[in-house]
Amino acid sequence: MDLTNASALVTGGAGGFGSATARRLAAAGAKVVIADVADERGQALAKELGNGSVYVRTDIMDEASIANAVKTAAELAPLRAAVVVHGGPPPPGSKGAARVINREGQRLPVAHFAHYAYVYLTSAYAVTSYAAEAMAKNAPLADNQRGVLINTASIAGFEATPGQVPYSAAKGGIIGMTLTLARDLAPLGIRAMAIAPGTFLTLAYSGKNMSTEELQAKWGPTVPNPKRMGDPDEYARLAAHIVDNDFLNGTTIRLDGAQRFQA
Ligand SMILES: NC(=O)c1ccc[n+]([C@@H]2O[C@H](COP(=O)([O-])OP(=O)(O)OC[C@H]3O[C@@H](n4cnc5c(N)ncnc54)[C@H](O)[C@@H]3O)[C@@H](O)[C@H]2O)c1
Repeated sequence: MDLTNASALVTGGAGGFGSATARRLAAAGAKVVIADVADERGQALAKELGNGSVYVRTDIMDEASIANAVKTAAELAPLRAAVVVHGGPPPPGSKGAARVINREGQRLPVAHFAHYAYVYLTSAYAVTSYAAEAMAKNAPLADNQRGVLINTASIAGFEATPGQVPYSAAKGGIIGMTLTLARDLAPLGIRAMAIAPGTFLTLAYSGKNMSTEELQAKWGPTVPNPKRMGDPDEYARLAAHIVDNDFLNGTTIRLDGAQRFQA
């Protein structure tokens, strides 16, 4: 997919994976819509890219906000690539990951599960479907190609650590919908792919009051080779390759240095 005279949308575009991906897609020629709620980081990145890329405040919990980000991208230039790589707010009142039945014998509330399913799966469908609708209106390029969608799963969608049922279910949902999306959208010349990262040094980790050295010491040994956390640019390079390579379609690629979670 040639990104010359095209736009690209990156949700979570000011984050670790998102900003690295925005840089790669801008370098490939796209005007990038950086869709995020981190105004300062988003605006700084748009200024850094300086090629007509823009920051659009976008809350993935709000469908109208997602529709607006897609519309903005399509108005900049034909939307040819959408990369869904946002985080989201934790469930209200929750302390984070928890087992289905905790030590006190209490059940993880259904609302907690539903919240994670919305943040990591339903919102991804929302971005994907709005983006596909816009791409369907594009003039086709070579081989009838109109656009490409990239969702972000996780190795937790294949095998997860305890206490992550809602997250692993949502990420498993991303893996499950990728081939169906590709089949549904094939007649329109729109591809659908997903990336399942292992443990990467993004803001999700660096925001946890640990130094880079401490994080690498904790997570590096869990990766067989290379023995370190992933670099967000390694995600971005794969995303840029997926955009470029029209024969990649309908599958989820693990990007994890052979990391596997132990039960
Ligand atoms: N970092 C990892 O090791 C890892 C591994 C597997 C999967 N993932 C997935 O990668 C994705 C991105 O994570 P990351 O590691 O780059 O984290 P990150 O914290 O670096 O980036 C996430 C971005 O999402 C934004 N965001 C938060 N709430 C939002 C909202 N309501 N609307 C729009 N944007 C919002 C944040 O402001 C941030 O810029 C997530 O889906 C995560 O599950 C990460």
